[in-house]
Amino acid sequence: MLDPKVFSRRRQDVMHLMAEGVAVIPTSPECTRSRDVLFPFRPDSDFYYLTGFAEPEAVAVLCPNRDQGEFVVFCRERDPERETWEGKRAGLDGAISQFGADDAFPIDDIDEILPGLLENRTKVFCTVGSHKDFDIKLLNWVQEVKNKSRAGITAPNEIVDLGHILHELRLVKRTEEVNVMKRIAKISASAHRRAMEVCRPGMSEYEIAAEIEYVLKKSGCDSWAYPPIVAGGVNACILHYITNRDTLHDGDLLLIDAGGELEYYAADITRTFPVNGKYSGPQKAVYEVVLAAQLAAIDQAQVNRHWNWPHAVALKILVEGLIDLGLLKGSVEDNIEQGNYRRFFMHRTGHWLGMDVHDVGDYKVANEWRILEPGMVITVEPGLYISGDDDIDPRYRYTGIRIEDDVLVQRKGNLVLSSHAPKTIDDIESLMASG
Ligand code: GLY
Ligand code: MN
Ligand code: MN
Repeated sequence: MLDPKVFSRRRQDVMHLMAEGVAVIPTSPECTRSRDVLFPFRPDSDFYYLTGFAEPEAVAVLCPNRDQGEFVVFCRERDPERETWEGKRAGLDGAISQFGADDAFPIDDIDEILPGLLENRTKVFCTVGSHKDFDIKLLNWVQEVKNKSRAGITAPNEIVDLGHILHELRLVKRTEEVNVMKRIAKISASAHRRAMEVCRPGMSEYEIAAEIEYVLKKSGCDSWAYPPIVAGGVNACILHYITNRDTLHDGDLLLIDAGGELEYYAADITRTFPVNGKYSGPQKAVYEVVLAAQLAAIDQAQVNRHWNWPHAVALKILVEGLIDLGLLKGSVEDNIEQGNYRRFFMHRTGHWLGMDVHDVGDYKVANEWRILEPGMVITVEPGLYISGDDDIDPRYRYTGIRIEDDVLVQRKGNLVLSSHAPKTIDDIESLMASG
């Protein structure tokens, strides 16, 4: 866990921006996987960002200038019997001593206590839409306060999306966050290296997925950040392929999109390499186009450039390449304007990366693409996905290639956090030959 001071500073930053409001932030609900079995619990990112508290059934309330303390936590009480089954709980005392709460109450008492925290506040900040059942509870608590108006108590009259404030903070990573993101990117890149080293024709996609998960888990990751995509041959053209059950064939490419999660920060890396360790001529030709687009896009991921520039540059190079390969006809400009390229490149070149893989933060401000700032982390992930349609040159059919890196924008020039995973043809082939 990061230093508790980090979480305290984040709360202060948010409260500073909230002025007179009160913020109510629930963690994620637990989810059933099957009957008595739950999915592994993962706290809500907004909640965790502000608290460092990873137990389920918890709500944080930030009440700037409250006499009895500004940071209130509702959580599970200690319960020796339940703890024998489920593990240790912080309890109310732990919420105060370990997590810096000024006040802590049992989660079971929230209906009685929470309305009081809303009294005489003008605004309630909440994570609108993230947890819909909780939104309804919150509206009911606001209504309860309204019902007390004859007693001279005023209820909040504005419900504001906390994300508007909080996600701006989450978008720009501070040093301690960058350090975690460097670690998880390196671990995840090692997992990709391992996949390249062990891959052989005849293996199954799930065997490679197991190797990746082995490296992530053995390196101390809590989990993967998203289910790994291990897509051999034609499966690489299914963008979110996670079945991972097919056999890997000699002559096919293998696209792997996998990243771990550490301290609730994600890596998101894609590499595409030949199952037999050697790219064929046509595979090389397509790969070089994607790599050129990716390198040029990374070059654009710099302070003071627009968020869209990496995409615009990558798109131009991909379209030029598609024309050179004979897969598109006509001019670069016309193909871009008419969107013909979407048949081969149907997503954008990247997204914000942080606690969530597709991280929070606006991409446009005042209807203009955002300017990149130091501390932002983006993915750069152009790809080409060539179907098996009859009009496609048979040499290129069923070729799916994506190359994805995680890039930290810095004043002194950007840093590719995932560079430990090789991506040139020579580097990949020599690593695979050594495996
Ligand atoms: N792994 C999801 C993505 O690349 O956006
Ligand atoms: Mn991505
Ligand atoms: Mn990805």
